[in-house]
Amino acid sequence: MRTTVGIIGAGPAGLLLARLLHEAGIDAVVLESRDRAYVERRQRAGILEQGTVDVLRAAGAGARMDREGLPHDGIELRFDRRRHRVDFPALTGGKSVMVYAQTEVCKDLIALQLADGGPLLFEAEALAVEGLEEGESERPRIRYRHEGREEVLDCDYVVGCDGFWGVSRKAVPQGVSRTYERTYPFGWLGILADVPPSHDELVYARHDRGFALLSMRSPTVTRAYLQVPEGTDAHDWSDTEVWDELDRRLETDDAWKLERGPVTAKSVTPMRSYVHEPMRHGRLFLAGDAAHIVPPTGAKGLNLAVGDVVTFARALIHRRETGEAARLDAYSATCLRRVWQAERFSYAMTTLLHRGPDATPFDDRIQLARLDRITTSRAAETDLATAYTGFPLD
Ligand code: APR
Ligand code: PHB
Repeated sequence: MRTTVGIIGAGPAGLLLARLLHEAGIDAVVLESRDRAYVERRQRAGILEQGTVDVLRAAGAGARMDREGLPHDGIELRFDRRRHRVDFPALTGGKSVMVYAQTEVCKDLIALQLADGGPLLFEAEALAVEGLEEGESERPRIRYRHEGREEVLDCDYVVGCDGFWGVSRKAVPQGVSRTYERTYPFGWLGILADVPPSHDELVYARHDRGFALLSMRSPTVTRAYLQVPEGTDAHDWSDTEVWDELDRRLETDDAWKLERGPVTAKSVTPMRSYVHEPMRHGRLFLAGDAAHIVPPTGAKGLNLAVGDVVTFARALIHRRETGEAARLDAYSATCLRRVWQAERFSYAMTTLLHRGPDATPFDDRIQLARLDRITTSRAAETDLATAYTGFPLD
C-alpha cells in the first residue's frame, strides 16, 4: 500500500491529523495496534483549551462537544482551608476551557474517519519506520502487522502519533536524539463516581497530606484524583478511604460539602515530564505523547498533541500550495517552543500543589507563599489563567 502521510497511532493526535488532512484533500492511512473498543474505552483527562475547541469545530468534529461539553470560565484553588476562584475570561480577555473527555473526542473522530475519511486500520501494529537515512529523495516506509501478515506502507511522510510506548521515536538514531526527563515520586489515584460534581468548576487543592483534584465528566459523573506515593496499587484503597481522604484534603472553613456516590472506576497514573528533541528526523515527524509527556496537573497532554498535528497539517498544506518547505523544516522548533512552555507550566502547577515525600517545612511555606502571590497579584493570576486556557497555535 502507499499513501502521502502514514500515521502511526489512533489516539487524539493521529485521529485529528487524519481529519485535518482529509479536509485538505491530502490522503493518509492510520495504523492503530489496538482494537476500536479499547481505544474508545481508555480513560484520560478532559480539559480542552479554547484553541483545541476551535480546531475541533473547524474540522467538523465539534457537534457533540458543543451539545454535551461543559464550558468552564474558571477553576478554584484551595489551600489552608480557603477557596480562591481564578476567573479565566476576566483575566485573559474572554478565553475559557471546555470539559469534554478525551475518550469522547476520540469516539467522535473515529466515527467521522470511518464515515468519510481515508483508511483507519485497527489491530495494525507498526513494527518499524524505515528509509529515513537514505537521503531526501528516498521515501520512508512503515513495516506493520495486520491480520497475521506483515505488510509495508510506503509514504511521503510518516507522522509518529503512537504515544510514549510506540515505535516511531526509536527510528531516530541515538546520536541525533536528546531526551529531557523528570519523574515525580508520586502518582494520581483517580476515580469515576456516579454522583453529581460537588462544585460547578474544577477544584485544585494543596494540602499537607497531598494534592487533591475535584473534576467531572458530566453533570452526573464526578472525576476526582488524590496524590498517592509512587507505586501505589489502586486496589490498596477502598472506596470509603478515597472519599474520606478527598474530604480531608478538600475541606474548607465554609459550609462546602463533598457528595459521595458509587465508584465505577479506580486507577493510578504515574507522573512524568519528558521531551524528545528533535521532533523531526528527515521525513519522520513525532507528535503528541510520542515526543513529550507532561504531568496531568496542567491538563496539557491532549492540547499539546492537538498543537503538534495542527502545526504539521498547516505546514504540509503550505508546502502543497506554495512549494515552500520552510514551515515543514521548522516543525520541530515551532512545536518545541510551545511544548516547553507547557512543560514549564505543568511542572509549576505540579510543584505548587503536591507534597513530595521529602518536603520540608520550608518547602511548605514556599508553596503557600506562591499560592498567596497568585491569589493576591493580578499579574501572577493572569499568568496562570493565560497558560491554563492555552497559548495561540502557530
Ligand atoms: N503501532 C500502531 N499503533 C500504536 C503503536 C504501534 N506500534 N504503539 C502505540 N500505538 C497506538 C496506541 O495504541 C494509541 O492508541 O498509538 C496511540 C497513541 O495514542 P495516545 O497514547 O492517546 O497519544 P496521543 O494521540 O499523542 O495523545 C496524547 O494522550 O496520554 C494522553 O495525556 C495524553 O492527552 C494526551 C494524549
Ligand atoms: C480530568 O478531569 O481528568 C482532569 C482535569 C484536570 C486536570 C487533569 C485531569 O488537570
